[in-house]
Amino acid sequence: MNLPNIKEARKRTDKKVEFLYDKYKIPDSVKDIGKGKKYLILTYGCQMNVHDSENISGIMKELKYTLTDDMEKADVIILNTCAIRENAHNKVMGILGRIKHLKEKNKDIITIIGGCMPQEESVSNTLKEKYKWVDIVLGTHNIYEIPKLLDNVMKEKKQDIEVYSVEGDVIEGLPVKRDSKYKAWVNIQYGCDKFCSYCIVPYTRGKQRSRKHEDILKEVESLRDNGYLEVTLLGQNVNAYGKDLEDNYTLAELLSDTAKTGIKRIRFVTSHPWDFTDEMIDVIAKYDNIMPYIHLPIQSGSDDILKKMNRKYNIKEYKTLFYKLKKKIPNVSITTDIIVGFPNESDEDFEKTIDIYNELKFDLAYTFIYSKREGTPAAKLKDDISLEVKEERLQRLNSIVNKYAKEANMKYLNKVVPDTIESL
Ligand code: 5AD
Ligand code: SF4
Repeated sequence: MNLPNIKEARKRTDKKVEFLYDKYKIPDSVKDIGKGKKYLILTYGCQMNVHDSENISGIMKELKYTLTDDMEKADVIILNTCAIRENAHNKVMGILGRIKHLKEKNKDIITIIGGCMPQEESVSNTLKEKYKWVDIVLGTHNIYEIPKLLDNVMKEKKQDIEVYSVEGDVIEGLPVKRDSKYKAWVNIQYGCDKFCSYCIVPYTRGKQRSRKHEDILKEVESLRDNGYLEVTLLGQNVNAYGKDLEDNYTLAELLSDTAKTGIKRIRFVTSHPWDFTDEMIDVIAKYDNIMPYIHLPIQSGSDDILKKMNRKYNIKEYKTLFYKLKKKIPNVSITTDIIVGFPNESDEDFEKTIDIYNELKFDLAYTFIYSKREGTPAAKLKDDISLEVKEERLQRLNSIVNKYAKEANMKYLNKVVPDTIESL
């Protein structure tokens, strides 16, 4: 058993990241365990998790399991969880009640919980103490262990929790069963070192580690050769891609080399305003197959709040970057993330968020009420603002978000544009 530990998760050392190509193996004893059996996977949270689920499905397929979306028919139920806000957590806890009920009728059902939630000390401890019937608990660092963990649990018939609070390595060579035949997620970077004061991700996903550009480009070329039309390059801070590698190869070069593969469309998420260079902007503007779309979280319109959030930019700097992007990239769409109700966000702070939104008129925004995450610096801040006030602020912000989103969409009224249509 390995339980997570927040102190270890916070640690950043100069330990070198290893690139591991042969970590994933299927023991002979489990090679056919899924024959005639079905698995269900429920995914919560970000695109990173969506893609992790594609890797988990790849593994299940190699073990000969087939996918079902009917929980009643599943022999293995996998929850790939998200820890970013309390409501994601609550959804999973709700589903666990349903699974427990099924398991009471059929004790052979195997339940696996993976993803970000088990990386939290409190969650893994609760699963250990109160949810002993959950068979396998794993984290974000050891998806490759699923075959071994399934093997163990079938033999031992008791709960196994294997969650590592480590900085992490780069695991290559996992199988993948993609949800789409035309659009593909491609990881370029794992983890995060930004430590925004409200955010749990640096603790649940380890330090920022870039994949080697050779491996990324090989993956894109193979996708192109297999008929894929679009790739989305994924990372928590894609702009910082390569900063942790020794070859000085940046996101600008990666985007340019990806564009040269000739794949039809390239997207990339998420960008942090801090690491956006002029070279990147030039590359995005230069290639027609790099979509003019940038997700650039602003989080708040108040410099005081941004400082407390440890975002490391102020509104003036954000605006300078925003206008540069608008000027240099024709037809660029810029979307954002905003948190309302950060501890002690005053009416004036919130008005500044409204003002900046009215000025920049984003194409869309993902808006959230601040959610306290145990172990993060913001969790220690006093907060006198009531939930009612926070909800009102969210509603007011959302009505502005919707107004500008509609305006942005109306620009396309009666226009014919190229798109990819995929039947399910
Ligand atoms: N509470 C609310 N929203 C959060 N986000 C990250 N952490 C929290 C939190 N504790 C939001 C940020 C981020 C997006 C992915 O989720 O806006 O950009
Ligand atoms: Fe979280 Fe900030 Fe890292 Fe984004 S940049 S994952 S908000 S810590």
